[in-house]
Amino acid sequence: MTQQTAFPEGFLWGGATAANQLEGAYNEGGKGLSIQDVMPNGLMTPPTAEPTPDNLKLKAIDYYHRYAEDIALFAEMGFKVYRFSIAWSRIFPNGDDAEPNEEGLAFYDRVLDELEKYGIEPLITLSHYETPLNLARSYGGWSNRKLVDFYVRYATTVFERYKDRVKYWLTFNEVNSILHEPFLGGAIEKSREEITEQELYQAIHHIMVASARATKEGKAINPDFQIGCMVIAIPRYPLTPKPEDAFKALRETQLDAFFGDIHVRGAYPNVLLRELREHGVELEITDQDLEDLKNTVDFVSFSYYMSVAESTNPSAETGHGNIMGGVVNPEIKQSEWGWGIDPIGLRYALNTMWDRWQKPLFIVENGLGAVDKLVDGTVHDDYRIAYMNDHLVQVEEAIKDGIPIMGYTSWGCIDLVSASTAEIKKRYGFIYVDLNSDGTGSLERYRKDSFFWYKEIIATNGASLKR
Ligand code: BG6
Repeated sequence: MTQQTAFPEGFLWGGATAANQLEGAYNEGGKGLSIQDVMPNGLMTPPTAEPTPDNLKLKAIDYYHRYAEDIALFAEMGFKVYRFSIAWSRIFPNGDDAEPNEEGLAFYDRVLDELEKYGIEPLITLSHYETPLNLARSYGGWSNRKLVDFYVRYATTVFERYKDRVKYWLTFNEVNSILHEPFLGGAIEKSREEITEQELYQAIHHIMVASARATKEGKAINPDFQIGCMVIAIPRYPLTPKPEDAFKALRETQLDAFFGDIHVRGAYPNVLLRELREHGVELEITDQDLEDLKNTVDFVSFSYYMSVAESTNPSAETGHGNIMGGVVNPEIKQSEWGWGIDPIGLRYALNTMWDRWQKPLFIVENGLGAVDKLVDGTVHDDYRIAYMNDHLVQVEEAIKDGIPIMGYTSWGCIDLVSASTAEIKKRYGFIYVDLNSDGTGSLERYRKDSFFWYKEIIATNGASLKR
């Protein structure tokens, strides 16, 4: 019997990574420091003055030297697309340099050579939580309008360089994370409690303008570019049927979504304007900014890991491990890191985003962070296979709902250092990397059971999913 699949022909199956979490070589090839180089514990402790040896990201999985071997493994799985980020500080080591660093550009040329060898489409994130440290420490990060020009110069430089080799671009990873994590998302060295609403929203405005201006420049360089925004998708369900809880869930959803609204509609939504007024925030917005914002995106990409519940009850359990707020939903299981596992939430997110924005959607992160055990050269990660299978079944349902979905790149397709906790024991990959928390390990790569499972899913365009 022929197996059925609703995944369209040309669906972009693949995996995703970020430079700071896998490249290592933090001071090689003319690279400058990025904010990640002073975050040895991710979000768990404040940044350090300088890089410290306990920061696993300095070495990471040494992709900088092993990219060819790793891309060959992606090709073996049949990847159609590979999402990765360019480390901004490899191209402009201090962020404000007059000229780009040729060695940094040449590195990504070599990466693109490998991808071309196997016919894998690149999908590049321009800024994935790795702003040059100098822009944080000398300029105050995105609070400073000067970052708009620095970012646009960086974006234009890489657009020009790779214009005939790369079609798909994302401007800022998880752009809405800044609401909760000002340093990670905005290179502003203040905690959420320290930063004023005025400063936070001005920084967000600068990011929105930078993204729109980069989109405009990119389209001028190559009109065939497909440029997308990237948001955290996190369905927020009311904890109870109380209207107050339902409304709280709605309002929090709207506040997450305004980043996408601006990217897609080119203007601030009214809900946000009210929020700003009530916080006494008066943004500096120029007429040119308003014009620039009209350069909207071609598609919306997003990460999806979990859903949460919302409650007006102050004693509702907030749980742990989630930077995006909300309370624990007792109806779903949590991962070992306290992230609420909810495959239907992915279909829910796809539907709400399509209803809201009517733009093609691209799932550019999804996956299970878990502890893996290497036994006889492999990992029996049936838990990861089950997680991904169940999520992909819901993607297929969303396709049947009539939603245009461009592709699916699972997060951390090769084990890499975690963003929130900077650990290696929280693994997402199809490929196991022999690296331990103390930095020891051979860095050898091993195919997990999920490697062969995903290969089959791609080969059958989703027909082999267990429904
Ligand atoms: C997203 C980020 O938040 O989630 C990635 O874009 C990150 O950089 C991923 O790695 C998973 O989070 P964590 O904390 O498990 O690495």
